[in-house]
Amino acid sequence: MTKLIAGNWKMNGSLTANEALLRALASGLPQALPCDVAVCIPAPYFAQFQALAAATPALAAVALGAQDISSQPAGAFTGEVSATMLKDFACRYAIVGHSERRQYHGETDALVAAKAQQALAVGITPIVCVGETLAEREAGQTTEVVKRQLAAVIQANGHCISEIVLAYEPVWAIGTGKTASPEEAQTVHAVLRAQLAAATAHASRVKIIYGGSMNAANAASLLAQPDIDGGLIGGAALKAADFLSIISAAS
Ligand code: 13P
Repeated sequence: MTKLIAGNWKMNGSLTANEALLRALASGLPQALPCDVAVCIPAPYFAQFQALAAATPALAAVALGAQDISSQPAGAFTGEVSATMLKDFACRYAIVGHSERRQYHGETDALVAAKAQQALAVGITPIVCVGETLAEREAGQTTEVVKRQLAAVIQANGHCISEIVLAYEPVWAIGTGKTASPEEAQTVHAVLRAQLAAATAHASRVKIIYGGSMNAANAASLLAQPDIDGGLIGGAALKAADFLSIISAAS
């Protein structure tokens, strides 16, 4: 299957820095992309991305993604950004349930499932993040934790579950420089694939991507695993050369 390399810029960027990064990406991208490419950027910069992409042919194939989405369709929810608002900017993806949102904003499995539902309702592909903490891994709970997190999304979304992208992001590997080994990651991806297969006949089509200190040096070995269908890249997505190397490793 075509792999997906998605950058998660997190709360980084500025008008000036974004333009430099996107222009550097545009000039380094091959004419025919070897994989699907997306950048999940802070919402205030969607219009900037749209304008640059419209004026820069090499960026036309780079999809826009959001880092979060409201669980509600509209109304009195101060500070939230709805699925239809994202759609106005031709957002193709929205990350939901990133561990930083679960950890710092108290997002529950049920809320994450509702967010995925909002995205799917307007045709945005939710990138659903699951992953265990270091304490959970050391307690032997990895499988139980990721299965619980995915089960909530399956339960709320029924047969539409085949339309999601699933991201396995072990919390202990995020921003730490400590990557799951290709074998460790593959083991969890296989568990998730089996869980999807019990819910949909199309589980083999669902992209299950890995995130957590993926970089130019380790991307190829991770992406060579049978159930690793791409990457969700934090730090390395902020450096054009690194992001471009990961993209070329996904061919
Ligand atoms: P890093 O690549 O910086 O570890 O971040 C991973 C991540 O959280 C992507 O969503």
